[in-house]
Amino acid sequence: MTGALTTILCERLGCKYPIVQTAMGWVADAKLTAATCNAGGFGFFAGATAEPGAVETALLAIKAHTDRPFGVNFHMFQPNAEEVIASVIKHKVRAVSYGRGPDARTIRRLKDAGVICMPTVGAVKHAIKAVELGADIVTVQGGEGGGHTGSVPTTILLPQVLDAVKVPVVAAGGFYDGRGLAAALAYGAVGIAMGTRFLMTSDSPVPPGALARYLETKDPAHIRTTLAVDGLPQRFIENDLIRKLEGMSLPARIGMSARYARQWGKDAGLGAVAMTKLGLKLLSSGESNFAQTVMAANLPAMVQKGVVAGDPDNGLLPSGQIASLIDSLPSCTELISSIVVTAQARLAAMAQLSSHEQRVAETKLP
Ligand SMILES: Cc1cc2nc3c(=O)[nH]c(=O)nc-3n(C[C@H](O)[C@H](O)[C@H](O)COP(=O)(O)O)c2cc1C
Repeated sequence: MTGALTTILCERLGCKYPIVQTAMGWVADAKLTAATCNAGGFGFFAGATAEPGAVETALLAIKAHTDRPFGVNFHMFQPNAEEVIASVIKHKVRAVSYGRGPDARTIRRLKDAGVICMPTVGAVKHAIKAVELGADIVTVQGGEGGGHTGSVPTTILLPQVLDAVKVPVVAAGGFYDGRGLAAALAYGAVGIAMGTRFLMTSDSPVPPGALARYLETKDPAHIRTTLAVDGLPQRFIENDLIRKLEGMSLPARIGMSARYARQWGKDAGLGAVAMTKLGLKLLSSGESNFAQTVMAANLPAMVQKGVVAGDPDNGLLPSGQIASLIDSLPSCTELISSIVVTAQARLAAMAQLSSHEQRVAETKLP
């Protein structure tokens, strides 16, 4: 039986333990999100990669599998951003996570509907900006984390952000066990958020062929960032496709992306005008320059080949460096229980340490 371990994060999000499953494109599906919530954590559904028209169905599927609160992730530059926001409000979703996209008006709209706004940031200045725009809680992702990521490690970024903002801070990037949770709480964070660790569970939709590659990658140096996919630093397990992309010229990569973009637009039912509008929206969001905007189309098809089709050589496997320490695929329930038990043991040992220090100090009193 797992005991209590409650922080303000649990009160705000309505979860039992201060453990968040982050949104991972095509991975954080309805099943994984519900499994996390049922295990006492807080799951974010990857709304940013939900097909237009599919958001409502996904939220209903989550609700069918759990009666616990859950969250949804979105990007302002996805074609169906308005569909996600409207569904979040309609279904009284507890929290949203996002990057730098939404403006103050969109954040106000969500907050007025009672939705907690919880962006993920990778730099101090982005944390400060996110709070100015209305964030209720900030998740800080250190550079060792999976997917798009910054260059500052969690051990440096976390205290920087804790000192810079007044809202509760959740630590992400490189967490996988109860020692990490205890350490994050000791820093002053209100909980941890994990992507890679939840991807590597038996509740994850990632096919066995790809999971095997995550499990067998034991050198953290082989889980590295590259600019070759969409021009922004993103962390993947190194494979044949990464090496091939890095060997291509920029015009060749842009040309390849243009072909992916045409196919993607066709599949999403978008014409040339809608595609141009979307590109301009991404450009004006300040998240990327022209080449990055064009290359952004590389990502979806290649990641889907990796984590949806399960091809570890010809697709991309986004991953945090922590995958190199993970050697099992527990269920979300097993994972969260073991994290809580270990965190409680570490926190109890730390409390002992301070009472021992006190005793030593007392005996030294005149
Ligand atoms: C497979 C995968 C896909 C991801 N996709 C997204 C995404 O679509 N949007 C996003 O904001 N973050 C994404 N991330 C980042 C995670 O949400 C999370 O911040 C990160 O994994 C935390 O670091 P960790 O992997 O060390 O736990 C992704 C991460 C992984 C591993």
